[in-house]
Amino acid sequence: VIRVPAEDLMRLGTALFTALGAAEDKARFIAETIVEANLTGHDSHGVIYYLTYAERVKEGYIDPRAEPMVERETPTTAVINGCWGFGQLTAMKAMEVAVEKAERSHIAAVTAYRCNHVGRVGYYTAWAARRGFIAMMFLNVGHPIVTVYGGRGRVLGTNPLSIAIPTGGDPFLLDYATSIVAHGKVKQALLEGERIPRGWIRDREGRETDDPAALEAGGWLLPFGGHKGYCLQLVNELLGAALTGSRSGLDPEEGPPSTNGVFAIAVKPEFFIHPKVFEERCRMILDGVRRCEAEAGMRIMIPGEPEWETRRRRLREGIPIPEALRRSLIALAEELGVDEGLMEALMGKPKRGLSVGMDEES
Ligand SMILES: NC(=O)c1ccc[n+]([C@@H]2O[C@H](COP(=O)([O-])OP(=O)(O)OC[C@H]3O[C@@H](n4cnc5c(N)ncnc54)[C@H](O)[C@@H]3O)[C@@H](O)[C@H]2O)c1
Repeated sequence: VIRVPAEDLMRLGTALFTALGAAEDKARFIAETIVEANLTGHDSHGVIYYLTYAERVKEGYIDPRAEPMVERETPTTAVINGCWGFGQLTAMKAMEVAVEKAERSHIAAVTAYRCNHVGRVGYYTAWAARRGFIAMMFLNVGHPIVTVYGGRGRVLGTNPLSIAIPTGGDPFLLDYATSIVAHGKVKQALLEGERIPRGWIRDREGRETDDPAALEAGGWLLPFGGHKGYCLQLVNELLGAALTGSRSGLDPEEGPPSTNGVFAIAVKPEFFIHPKVFEERCRMILDGVRRCEAEAGMRIMIPGEPEWETRRRRLREGIPIPEALRRSLIALAEELGVDEGLMEALMGKPKRGLSVGMDEES
């Protein structure tokens, strides 16, 4: 494992996505959302996706030049057509439009379709919460890999949701898949040669296993939280696929891979309560929760806290990049002919002021 400064990974991503055909400002934004996933500890949605998205551009699933457009709108609603560009651009547009409208009308809801994979959903909701809005995103994934409560076989996608609330300082941030873990966490364990906890997936025969390879070999993920998680998994499918007009895990067609149907809501707290009073009440509640007595070996954290803590640490210490991923990124950079200085940074030979540490993650 080497450690690479976030800024270097962003410059690498900007160069890669530009080489793949995206405009430079768009390339930089896509890279930023991806590196933010690493910074906040979600390596499953980090620079490993430079490889996936490059494949999808080459296969023609992502149009690197397409820009999302508002197809229909009222003062409080909008429908966005992602035009099969990078999903990050579509998700950001959906959240931006929702926030602009909520700024004027207190609340707004936006759907997006023809949307490729948007990456870490919390990026967009946290962005809105940092601007003072309560933000929600419900998504389905058009790639069936998760079973339903009590079921066998692949039925729906990992259907994530995120809710961010401005509480003063770093926002409260709920952001997860409705499968026990994101699909990418199983792929990552496979890449790093690790076993996974039993109970994350079943193999193709429906048996419990700790072998991550069993998922790609016809196995499936389980929804989280028993019947309660399953209810949310279906909420995301109904809102993400049916309301937005995006592909459901149950539709027969398969491509493009990992499409996201997006339903976004932004709410301005001011109408309901003075923002300062709201923040104070939130603080009182969250601080009270934090002070409650913890079980042995446990620490009480607020949703979002693990992300913001990891972010501060990784900004200081760099982002750990496992050897296999490092080699794949170098191969992609070579293939696309990106600047040598960036590649050397990834190879552990700093050039032109780039610094690369070599220690293990603490
Ligand atoms: N675009 C897509 O199609 C897609 C699909 C699935 C997942 N994802 C993304 O994958 C990422 C990972 O998803 P996941 O399901 O593996 O997430 P996860 O299981 O790591 O859960 C993360 C959430 O749990 C909270 N959390 C973690 N530990 C906590 C604790 N001790 N106390 C309180 N809160 C705690 C975090 O703050 C965060 O809100 C997410 O960013 C998600 O948006 C994207």
